[in-house]
Amino acid sequence: MSLFTAVHRVLPVPNYLRLPSVGVDISDSSLKYIQFTPDYSDHALTLKQWGDIDIPEGTVARGDVLDVEKLTGVLKELKTQTGATYVRVSLPEERAYLFETEIKRGTPYKEIRGALEFRLEENVPLSPRDAFFDYEIIAGTDERKPLRVSVTVYARETINEYYEAARAAGLIPLSFEVEAAAIARATLPPAEHGTHMIVDFGQTRTGIGIVHQGTLMYTSTIDVGGAELSTALRAELGSVPEAELTTLKNTVGLTQSSEHPRVPAIIAAEMEKIMSELQLRLQYWNSHASSLADHDVRSVVLCGGSSNLKGLPAHVEATLGVPAARAAVWQNAFSLDEAVPPIDLRHSYGYATAIGLALAGHIAFYD
Ligand SMILES: Nc1ncnc2c1ncn2[C@@H]1O[C@H](COP(=O)(O)OP(=O)(O)OP(=O)(O)O)[C@@H](O)[C@H]1O
Ligand SMILES: [Mg+2]
Repeated sequence: MSLFTAVHRVLPVPNYLRLPSVGVDISDSSLKYIQFTPDYSDHALTLKQWGDIDIPEGTVARGDVLDVEKLTGVLKELKTQTGATYVRVSLPEERAYLFETEIKRGTPYKEIRGALEFRLEENVPLSPRDAFFDYEIIAGTDERKPLRVSVTVYARETINEYYEAARAAGLIPLSFEVEAAAIARATLPPAEHGTHMIVDFGQTRTGIGIVHQGTLMYTSTIDVGGAELSTALRAELGSVPEAELTTLKNTVGLTQSSEHPRVPAIIAAEMEKIMSELQLRLQYWNSHASSLADHDVRSVVLCGGSSNLKGLPAHVEATLGVPAARAAVWQNAFSLDEAVPPIDLRHSYGYATAIGLALAGHIAFYD
């Protein structure tokens, strides 16, 4: 589920898959990029370029581009740093509408899009004229029943803002993709089945995605990220520099500490907002997906810079009753036994989206 109609019109289909491209994850506070090159000799990818560019305040808020010119400036900096022409860009979960529907089995492939267009209006608060959408057929459904399809919709305007900013910076977007779908490509093995919850715990927000048989089915966002943990810690501990707070989060976090006895309780109280939301989303999924085979969430995949929080996997596991682990973000690019990535483990969690976007340019390679 990565290509939106705007892009189909811009580029002929067969060749763009092979163009060297950079995965670009745009969030409210930063842009992260990754580019791989194939290494055919050992059937792995090599990390060619990576980086992180600050996005000034007032540029993007909750995924909404407030200032296209400022975003263009950030993307120009990306172009200077990478020399890139082709990019694969993430779209914010906050702005996505996802719904699931059924299509008669045997419907010719070229008719599916038209059939779905008719269903947009009843499922999302956008008129088909103002919407871009893409869809994915859910694998492994009962052959005797209709096809089940997951549809992702964005307001045309949302995509256009990202598209225009990229074009003004001299970049050509090959694809746009919801963050959680990109994360899934990086963090779940391609042959992985069943259902997984993805939790992207970032600086300003936490993104949630539910991926079933490799297809993104559901997304939502919580307005709590690492910044809120810092605010809560400062309210109790006084003005502590951010770097020190990061160390406290990552070395004490949710675990007991005789040296910092108050820290775990402060963090746990703030995390409660995220935990109760995760519980709600899990319940929602369980009650709506019961007709899908293999719908039980098998694992929670944690990523985003704030997933460095000490004790987070155990805390999530205890709260949701589902195994939780930090993501192995490089697993679909190369083996850590063969290559040592230049991005250290702690920083790597924040790159999950950019890695997934960059992998999309190498689908034939790693499938
Ligand atoms: N070792 C670390 N390296 C990088 N970030 C870390 C580390 N430990 C904790 N963090 C926290 O991770 C957060 C950044 O996470 P991430 O890069 O995923 O956010 P983002 O994508 O820029 O923001 P958004 O919330 O808008 O998606 C910061 O709050 C930072 O303090
Ligand atoms: Mg992010």
